[in-house]
Amino acid sequence: MAPTEPALAPSQHVPVMPDEVVAMLAARPGSLHIDATVGGGGHAERILAASDPDGRLLGLDADGAAIARVRERLAGRYGDRLRLRQANFRQLADVAPGEGFGAIDGCLFDLGLSSDQLADAERGFSFRTTGRLDMRFDTSRGIPAAELLATLDAGELTALLRRYGEEPFAGRIARAVVEARRTAPVETAADLAALVERVTPGRAPGRRRVHPATRVFQALRVAVNEELEALQEGLAAALDLLRPGGRLVVLSYHSLEDRIVKRFFQAERRGCTCPPEAPVCVCGRQPRLRLVTPKGLVPEEAEVAANPRARSARLRAAERLVA
Ligand SMILES: C[S@@+](CC[C@H](N)C(=O)[O-])C[C@H]1O[C@@H](n2cnc3c(N)ncnc32)[C@H](O)[C@@H]1O
Repeated sequence: MAPTEPALAPSQHVPVMPDEVVAMLAARPGSLHIDATVGGGGHAERILAASDPDGRLLGLDADGAAIARVRERLAGRYGDRLRLRQANFRQLADVAPGEGFGAIDGCLFDLGLSSDQLADAERGFSFRTTGRLDMRFDTSRGIPAAELLATLDAGELTALLRRYGEEPFAGRIARAVVEARRTAPVETAADLAALVERVTPGRAPGRRRVHPATRVFQALRVAVNEELEALQEGLAAALDLLRPGGRLVVLSYHSLEDRIVKRFFQAERRGCTCPPEAPVCVCGRQPRLRLVTPKGLVPEEAEVAANPRARSARLRAAERLVA
């Protein structure tokens, strides 16, 4: 008898603000949606249920393991209604039309990493694991975090930690990494977490219990995956694919991401990019978005209590205008 492939562990990821996401995407029978970050497939499943019996969904993820897991769980149930592709959402403009998603009713971006990635000790996303610091969503390309820590000089590392983690002790941590690697490379998540703990001041009494390495890990992950650049490009590509009335919905988890989303939505709501002192518009750009959630939405307390991952989430939604 042929040996059977071991089944993938089921996803542990609990989708954030699922009711709000589905309502904002306005999924309905016959609609065409893209989930640009399909992850464990929790949102995808809700979108497919809301667009029953014939709505279709294209799910993308940079992480091949996420795509394989969603395929195993949902492909049999949804057949032709679900298409899955391992791709970075930066490539949305190239990938979507070829899959039959050139004009869509909605696109979801649920940013950052999933609980499945966080729990995978081999990938080094969590400072609680002893895995090598890799941190790539797509393990087939890019530079692992451990390599950045081994090669960047103190100035470059300081800039990275400031820019992508807004880390107040960036210089001190960067110098400590350069010093430490003279004797042994800073290679695992546990090595780095311990180093940060050693060189930064302890938590002030009464402050929330956030690990002192949280911002450092965020910064490395954002840099390794070029997350901010990808987000900017992904949003622009998604907007181009939307039909008039189509919805763009983004869940972000930290201020750097949310700032990009907010600015992108504001710029597309305004349209004209002429300087304020210009007497008449010469750029001719028309507004392309209407804000559906001007201030964004945050999860209910009950959701945060049940799913701590939702704690820092902010949902922004906008609708494509005719222009
Ligand atoms: C928060 S999880 C998504 C969870 C999903 N909404 C669910 O319900 O299970 C984020 C996912 O986005 C993926 N991701 C992050 N940046 C990406 C990018 N630029 N292109 C494609 N996928 C990306 C990650 O690999 C991860 O699986």
